[in-house]
Amino acid sequence: MQIKQLEDSAHLPLFERLGKKIYLTAGGKILLEFAKEMIHNLDKLEENLDQLKGLKTGKLSIAVATTANYFAPHLLATFIKIYPDILVSLHVTNRKGLIHHLEDNDVDLVIMGQPPEEMTEELHAKIFMQNPLVMIAAPSHPFAMRKNIPLKELQDQIFLVRERGSGTRHAMERHFKERELLLSTGMEMSTDEAIKQGVQAGLGLGIVSRHSIQMELEMNKLSILSVKSFPIVRHWFIVHREGKCLSPIAQAFWKFILNQSEQLTS
Ligand code: PGA
Repeated sequence: MQIKQLEDSAHLPLFERLGKKIYLTAGGKILLEFAKEMIHNLDKLEENLDQLKGLKTGKLSIAVATTANYFAPHLLATFIKIYPDILVSLHVTNRKGLIHHLEDNDVDLVIMGQPPEEMTEELHAKIFMQNPLVMIAAPSHPFAMRKNIPLKELQDQIFLVRERGSGTRHAMERHFKERELLLSTGMEMSTDEAIKQGVQAGLGLGIVSRHSIQMELEMNKLSILSVKSFPIVRHWFIVHREGKCLSPIAQAFWKFILNQSEQLTS
């Protein structure tokens, strides 16, 4: 009956019976081709609508370095204005913690300093902003007035340092080591916030990301020391596991960060 209905609406015979076999007529063959094309297009339509739904209501899970937390929430705020119905979970941890997130593949995207060399093959990473590490002191510190201080002269100074596993700590130790200089470490602290407070209180010098001290510079609570070979030039990367199937919203965030790149650097 269905075949009959189809032939009636096409006003053409679509099948012919020869003996016990049924064959497609020329009209039937054309109809078959178009029907296949239509089914394919319907699948595509559904896929596109799902993507759109995903962009409106999807979940985004990102992990950022402790230091990146000074700018990441501002970026997220702008992103959420574009996609107000998405749900974001933000994990803030040090470099070691970020590497674990990448190994466990339990977040969509990671914002970190230099990605680990031993994972280069497994990661897709793009630079999106500079991350200069500067040396800071209390404004009353005798070095605060000097210019171009040779790093060697600072060997006897006590430095407040981040915990082991921090990218900032790793970069600062490497910087001294490459110049065959000793770094005298004082108190170990797990956030840039604590280091800034310690430096203001005169407990020692510190090396922190320039992003973390904007407010203290404006309020003249900290000074950036003019030291040769400083700032240590680092970069921020947006990273995901190679081959990871990013959700539409994660893809949108990836593009958003890279689009923002120029404004952020200026
Ligand atoms: P952090 O920063 O681990 O010192 O917080 C990340 C990085 O600079 O790699």
